[in-house]
Amino acid sequence: MESLRRRIVEDFEKGAGRHDDPDVYGGPAGDPGLIGPGSVSWEVNADLAAVSQAGLAAIVLEILHPSVVAGVQDLSTYREDPFQRARATLGYVLTTTFGNTEAATGVIDRVRHVHSFVNGTRPDGVVYRARDPELLAWVHTCIPWMILRAFEDTNRSLSAEERDRYLAEQAVIGRMGGADWVPTSMAELSDYVAAMRPKLCVNAQTREFIDFLMTSPFFPDLPAPVDRRLHRLAIYAGMSRAPQWARELIGYDRPSAMTRALIGPVLQFDARRLRWAFGEPPYAQLARRRASPDRIGAR
Ligand code: HEM
Repeated sequence: MESLRRRIVEDFEKGAGRHDDPDVYGGPAGDPGLIGPGSVSWEVNADLAAVSQAGLAAIVLEILHPSVVAGVQDLSTYREDPFQRARATLGYVLTTTFGNTEAATGVIDRVRHVHSFVNGTRPDGVVYRARDPELLAWVHTCIPWMILRAFEDTNRSLSAEERDRYLAEQAVIGRMGGADWVPTSMAELSDYVAAMRPKLCVNAQTREFIDFLMTSPFFPDLPAPVDRRLHRLAIYAGMSRAPQWARELIGYDRPSAMTRALIGPVLQFDARRLRWAFGEPPYAQLARRRASPDRIGAR
């Protein structure tokens, strides 16, 4: 059993990174970080299954904005190392929620600096810059939105108050990242998404990104036909978190009957497997110990 558990953890960490750096998640005794213990964010984002299952749908929603996909297509290194890109985003989400204050503000500052070089012109002539507060608000919003959905699908239902609190807690990070305004409640989220929808589309750059997702080897150790089948299932499963209108926009709304039947069980199995293997993930353990009131005297 122990060797199976270790294998699951190692396989996950190979793609998604370790996220157990004591300099990031440990640190000054009593430091709550940007959000802190007792928050909904510390419960929800401690569920590595929910956070990792949310990733694909969040990124696909983000790149439905033509300025975001232009920045990603022009300047991202995702084609060379897609897992590195996914690791960096997961690291950002975990560090900002669980890292000590210095690490959390440090990663936000670093990413703001990286974004200062992400500027250009879309194929339709519109100028974009990643530090545009409107674009930052959209990219920020897709992340907690999809994590909430994945958490509620595979873990437990949250009350309306908990959902609002989660968005309000995560909004602190979005604003520090440079967004002027981000939704802080489900009602605001719903209005905001409705207002954003006319600005979203699938163009040639979006198609290129999605084709890359569909065709790059996902399970390179498996024979190609098995890789292709599992890959397709993984993409449909990940995309099932996105709302119907988004799946229709990119053409992921019609999985085969077999895929449709498998999506729910596969996501539930994956979530249970990861939770069993990780228990409380290392970043959450380190953060809990750091922020514990018992340790304040140790400062
Ligand atoms: C709050 C919103 C955003 C978050 C949380 C975020 C997160 C990140 C992170 C964690 C990195 C990796 C930095 C590193 O390599 O250390 C990154 C890089 C990058 N981001 Fe963002 N980003 C956001 C908004 C945007 C927007 C609006 C655009 C495009 C217009 C964009 C395009 C890029 C590009 C092109 C890179 C370069 C690195 C790469 O992908 O290879 N980001 N972002």
